[in-house]
Amino acid sequence: MKVIILAGGSGTRLWPLSRERYPKQFIKLQGKSESLFQETFRRSLLLAEIDDIYVATNEKYKFLVMGAVEELGYSYSEERILVEPEAKNTLPAIYAGVRETLKSGEDTVVVFPSDHMIEDRQGFAELITESEPLSRDFLVTFGIKPDTPNTGYGYISPGEAVGNGYKVQSFKEKPSYEKALEYIGCGYYWNAGIFMFNSGLFVEEVKHHAPEIYSAFEGTESIDEAFSNIAEGISIDYGIMEKSDSVAVVPADISWNDLGSFDSFYDVFERDENENITGKENILLDSNDNIIFSEEGKLVATIGLDDMIVIDNRDALLVCKKDQSQKVKEVVQTLKDRH
Ligand code: GDD
Ligand code: MG
Repeated sequence: MKVIILAGGSGTRLWPLSRERYPKQFIKLQGKSESLFQETFRRSLLLAEIDDIYVATNEKYKFLVMGAVEELGYSYSEERILVEPEAKNTLPAIYAGVRETLKSGEDTVVVFPSDHMIEDRQGFAELITESEPLSRDFLVTFGIKPDTPNTGYGYISPGEAVGNGYKVQSFKEKPSYEKALEYIGCGYYWNAGIFMFNSGLFVEEVKHHAPEIYSAFEGTESIDEAFSNIAEGISIDYGIMEKSDSVAVVPADISWNDLGSFDSFYDVFERDENENITGKENILLDSNDNIIFSEEGKLVATIGLDDMIVIDNRDALLVCKKDQSQKVKEVVQTLKDRH
């Protein structure tokens, strides 16, 4: 089995915790000893030898990847890091990885994003192993029972039973709020963002549904050259999963969290008696329902503050009303436009 870890996103909705040069998957979040990327790497080691683990990332993050793996105590071959010259979203990244794995023959490939928290690592590895037979004929996705009409996820409707899962009737990426509500009512799952397939089958599906990506890579061994042939980036979800007839879903009854935006922190971090998420050293008087983070060593005190997000980093400070946290990415866009 081969694993491809996706670690090229820049996590703009978590600014300024997540920075262009140091994105969220590499940060050790308050109270955690390992980054999300490191947790993902450990999860991968339960399934594959270290030489069979590939990391697709942007050239900006290559050294963060090397450093993170070394910190775990492993020596890792630079050749396993697939370096993208620019971000073209997940389909080109995964396809580049799959082509690399094919150099040692057809095999089962598992794709892990690196912005998730999965508590029961061992249980999840077992679920993946159990699903391997299904992945010979299907692009396997993992389905999480939704609890809110979150519009940032893919929605999957299960059809007829097959193996340890179901054939997928329809896959809808990032629907509108109204649609998401409707899908939840009809028993759809959230797409966990983790995929498993036979590499040969995947190539065929890309050839069929995303011929522009397939042909960008034809006749070249160089990722730089292939990427320069791609006019527009696309995610695996829009590019393949919504279109393919060979998708299956395996329900995953696991504690799973996408740390996409500050809202998701409520499912992950412990709250104090006033529903604040903050470091123990901070002093919050008459303050409720806040997220208050600061760089290590800096004390934050609040008085009479409710429903706010305060993120204090060395060179940036965010003060945001909690219900407007989806707009954080607009700040990042403004910053980008300035440069
Ligand atoms: N190498 C590389 N290159 N990685 C990338 C790139 C890229 O250009 N863009 C994103 N990634 C990485 C991110 O770092 C993350 O680990 C993973 O790919 C998924 O990308 P996101 O941008 O976080 O996707 P999403 O969360 O909006 O949506 C996906 O995940 C959801 C579950 O968390 C989709 O698969 C949804 O259907 C799914 O529900
Ligand atoms: Mg994500």
